[in-house]
Amino acid sequence: MNKLTLYLIGITTLLCACTSDQPRYVIGVSQCSEDIWRNWQNSEMKMEANFHEGVELRFTAALDNSDLQIQQIDSLVASGIDLLIVAPNQQSNVTPAIDRAFDQGIPVIVFERKTNSSKFTAFVSADNYEMGHTMGEYIAAQLDGEGRVMEILGLKGSSPADDRHRGFRDALSSHPGIEVVATLQGDWSEKTAYQAVRSYRGNLQDIDFVFGHNDRTAMGARKAFLERKVKLPRLCGIDGLPGAEGGIRLVRDSLLDASYIYPTRGDQLLQLAIKILEEKPYEKEVMLTSAIVTQENANVLLLESDEVARQSQYLARLHNQADGYLKQLSTQRTITFLAVALIILLLAVILSVYLYFLQKARLADERSQMEREQLDFYTQVSHELRTPLTLIEGPLAQLGETSDIRQAGAEASGLFAIIQRNTRQLTELINKMLTMQGSIKDQHEAISDDTPGSTASESPHAEPSEPTASDSNQTVLIVDDNADIRAYLRTILQDKYQVNEAADGQQGLSLANEIVPDLIVSDVMMPVMNGLEFCQRVKGGTATSHIPVILLTARALTRQQIEGYESGADAYITKPFSAEMLLARISNLLKSRHQLKNLFKAERQETTAENAEKTTKPEKTEEVPTTNSPREDAFLSKFHDFIEKNMTDSDLNVETIGAELGLSRVQLYRKVKALTGKSPVELLRTARLQAGRRLLETTGKTISEVAYEVGFTAPSYFTKCFKDEYGISPSDL
Ligand code: FRU
Repeated sequence: MNKLTLYLIGITTLLCACTSDQPRYVIGVSQCSEDIWRNWQNSEMKMEANFHEGVELRFTAALDNSDLQIQQIDSLVASGIDLLIVAPNQQSNVTPAIDRAFDQGIPVIVFERKTNSSKFTAFVSADNYEMGHTMGEYIAAQLDGEGRVMEILGLKGSSPADDRHRGFRDALSSHPGIEVVATLQGDWSEKTAYQAVRSYRGNLQDIDFVFGHNDRTAMGARKAFLERKVKLPRLCGIDGLPGAEGGIRLVRDSLLDASYIYPTRGDQLLQLAIKILEEKPYEKEVMLTSAIVTQENANVLLLESDEVARQSQYLARLHNQADGYLKQLSTQRTITFLAVALIILLLAVILSVYLYFLQKARLADERSQMEREQLDFYTQVSHELRTPLTLIEGPLAQLGETSDIRQAGAEASGLFAIIQRNTRQLTELINKMLTMQGSIKDQHEAISDDTPGSTASESPHAEPSEPTASDSNQTVLIVDDNADIRAYLRTILQDKYQVNEAADGQQGLSLANEIVPDLIVSDVMMPVMNGLEFCQRVKGGTATSHIPVILLTARALTRQQIEGYESGADAYITKPFSAEMLLARISNLLKSRHQLKNLFKAERQETTAENAEKTTKPEKTEEVPTTNSPREDAFLSKFHDFIEKNMTDSDLNVETIGAELGLSRVQLYRKVKALTGKSPVELLRTARLQAGRRLLETTGKTISEVAYEVGFTAPSYFTKCFKDEYGISPSDL
């Protein structure tokens, strides 16, 4: 996998990480006990937390056990909380644990119960002294300054118990008529208070008022008094909680005389915690205000608190609903993220695979290109070697034929044989090399095109030369850019044919049009115009289309030969070539033209003989001979039709016919002669004679009339030609 993929995987992981539910803040809450008051406060904190994104609360309750609370604080700190809210069970015992947390840099909010040190971030509490004081004043007022009072203390060593006690006693000190007959030790629980009263040795009957440090304590005392079946004293406590079992209802229902609201304010505590965590300004000491609950206001307070509770419940329901939606949303978001991540990953994989194959293909391409170039180079070199080799091998063979060598001494002919043998070996080697290269190249499926094959030893382009004298009047045009090859070919051909030369395709083409040779031998790789194009154009020109073309080339591969034939070549001979082979090929091609002429002649002679013998009706028109090319057939038809139509015109001549067919006089002559073995003039005369014969046989016209009608200018000449053609005199008809 490439860098891109790794990068995408990184993004995906990041996306997934973003969707996880890591809390922003973890807040530890260490409660000293577990009771109705603590539960109420905890639920207020939880409710408030709902309004703050990413807040996790971790609660512990020490069940009024300071050692347990110390452990719990330490483990909360170890669990990685961001802030600690703590109500220390007993002031002195729990302080060291709080200090430790604070020293670790964790902000600490001490609430409701004090510590012994100043290592805290904020302190939140109601005024416990004030509460005790108010309750003292209340009792004094209720008893009109006269009576006996019992005080049941909170847990020893917990700061609210001390403060409430001090406040109570201070208040009573100004009411000398009020006597505190008993101060019992409690621990904030109903059970301990109950037991303390039960085991009280004094006279319970004497007690007018009981002050419990909290409502639960007061209720424990009430239970004990009732059990003793003594006069039930009036009772008051502290906490004044709302709800079914709360102090407000106890007062309203006259189970208690009074209570004092000890504010829980869990919501306020949490807000303060978040302010501290978010480093916003906050108050270091918060004093919570409160009020006494008596028979007079209990009902109103209860209604109010019930309403608050109702609204809280409603809010909680709303919140739960919103929470559900949020969870759903978060699940959907997670799924979407995962899907997107998966798609990205998939795309990355596809892209990587694609790039990998692209790279592979590119490398393979480059490699095969290199191999092709190498092969091309070797092929080129081998080709280049073949031309001079031809020029050694050919002349050597010719030399071998001469009497000089045959008559030379044994040593000379031995040396000559060595030369011949090694030349042959060299030729074979090069041929093998080329064959091998060819098949490798074919495997590569590379179609390397013909590059202009000018050799390093190339001689300057030869101008078209004069035809050489020979014992034949047939003409061969040699087209090759290599002057040595041209010279060598000339030596081979000049005894049999008139030889013309051109140095490239373009020169060859104009010469071919000019002289209309009987055959062309052409190289393929030539500058200016290569042999393939040259051949195509020869075969495409009206004047030259009939001329057989032999491609003589070093391009020995099958594919190259096919290219040659596709360009219209009649034969394809590869270098090095044998002189005899070339001569045989030329002679063959020319003979096939002769055979066509003979066929025409034979047809004509046959008809003539038939006619002469039977002296029956002559053929209506001269049959157009058939060549092996539709193109040439069409040409001959056109030629034939034109003559048929116009032969009565005595002015009709070869110039007019040539002009009609788009050929010069020479071209017309050479082409018609090549195709039919007869000159255009001869063919015109034959046509006229045939028409004349027809007229003589079918009409009563005189010889003179007929002669003029078919275009002869003199009846005597008509008669002479008629005799020559048919072997009989027109007057015989
Ligand atoms: C609750 C409680 C209250 C009391 C307060 C004193 O745990 O016992 O009833 O007023 O603690 O800290």
